[in-house]
Amino acid sequence: HGYFTYDPGFMATASCQSNITYIDGDNGILLYRGYPIEQLAKSANYLEVCYLLLYGEAPTAKQFEKFQHNIMRHTMVHEQLSSFFKGYRRDAHPMAIVCGVIAGLSAFYHDPMDITDQSHREIAAHRMIAKLPTIAAMAYKYSIGQPFVYPRNDVSYAGNFLQMMFAVPCEDYKVNPIVERAMDRIFTLHADHEQNASTSTVRLAGSSGANPFACIAAGIASLWGPAHGGANEACLTMLEEIGSVDRIPEFIARAKDKDDPFRLMGFGHRVYKNFDPRATVMRETCHEVLDDLKIEDPLLDVAMELERIALSDPYFVDRQLYPNVDFYSGIVLKAVGIPSSMFTVIFALSRTVGWMSHWNEMMSDSKQKIGRPRQLYTGAPERDFHTQVEK
Ligand code: CMC
Repeated sequence: HGYFTYDPGFMATASCQSNITYIDGDNGILLYRGYPIEQLAKSANYLEVCYLLLYGEAPTAKQFEKFQHNIMRHTMVHEQLSSFFKGYRRDAHPMAIVCGVIAGLSAFYHDPMDITDQSHREIAAHRMIAKLPTIAAMAYKYSIGQPFVYPRNDVSYAGNFLQMMFAVPCEDYKVNPIVERAMDRIFTLHADHEQNASTSTVRLAGSSGANPFACIAAGIASLWGPAHGGANEACLTMLEEIGSVDRIPEFIARAKDKDDPFRLMGFGHRVYKNFDPRATVMRETCHEVLDDLKIEDPLLDVAMELERIALSDPYFVDRQLYPNVDFYSGIVLKAVGIPSSMFTVIFALSRTVGWMSHWNEMMSDSKQKIGRPRQLYTGAPERDFHTQVEK
């Protein structure tokens, strides 16, 4: 037992060196390539952030133009990919569809892809970032029985996603700029978060030299759980279940009860022990969007009151449990017309650039090794086998 450090949940293990994202959990700091998330959310658009994460520096105007062109020209998916959707039940969860269809992309982009070649890795990243919105919107359209909408490359990345989600053949669709900006900001806030469960999954899967599209599918699977990306959907479901401010004490009591598995969704984080800077931006965005769209959502009152009570309750204070990014994102997404079953898909779409940046960083590292954790064996000691089955 003496050889390995036992560290369940990797609470104290650095799995790699990385120069992409920095988090200081005690002081609520999140930097992408050195830039504070608050500044990026305010002043950069999502594709600029994608460039920054992938290449390490913010793009010049010329570099941005070229990058935008490179991404947008890959937004279509092979027409044969549409038939993948038909294999799913019409009421399938969009995460189930997206996870499977993204894995299916590996069939379209395998040979002659050479993942040791930087230019091949770059095109794989462009394809991934470009096609995720298309596949995400197709999953939604499939679930509501509407025809797929083809991508448009003459609008913004967020605008294109919204038109693929909401346009119908019989009507004109115009993207609301407020909704477009909110969507873009949600993408930026979720773009990367260093070695979280899904990113670590992508790295581990990729460390064997596997096809990157299959690795992203593995990341999507990991993201789906309610302790990770699934929290945004679970949080909105919880707010709806609470329903009104007067029912909050009952749910706070349940969250504190160790015999009850219920947790306050959108609260707590493995790394942030002070506040989640993404939640602060998201809270502001939430108020802006609801004001701009003139929406009065009683769930926002429930969320604000829940936050106020939880932050003064010793249970939450002692355990340093603060609202995380997903606490307010669901209310914004609901306000812009996105159904809750799509929330985690949108997280996956946003995080794809982070996953691809980490995969590329790992693959570029000459010291890269297959990820292979060890264990502390707790099973039976060696013993002799005697069959009990009559032959
Ligand atoms: N509600 C009630 N109690 C909680 C909560 C919560 N949301 N989160 C943690 N605790 C308690 C937990 O019961 C434990 O108490 P005790 O010490 O008495 O046993 C203590 O706080 C520490 O919790 P932990 O589970 O050991 O902490 P962790 O670092 O392993 O888990 C977490 C972090 C995010 C999984 C957890 O806080 C959680 O389940 N939160 C709710 C789900 C959620 O909102 N997830 C989204 C994370 S942010 C988006 C993303 O990056 O994916």
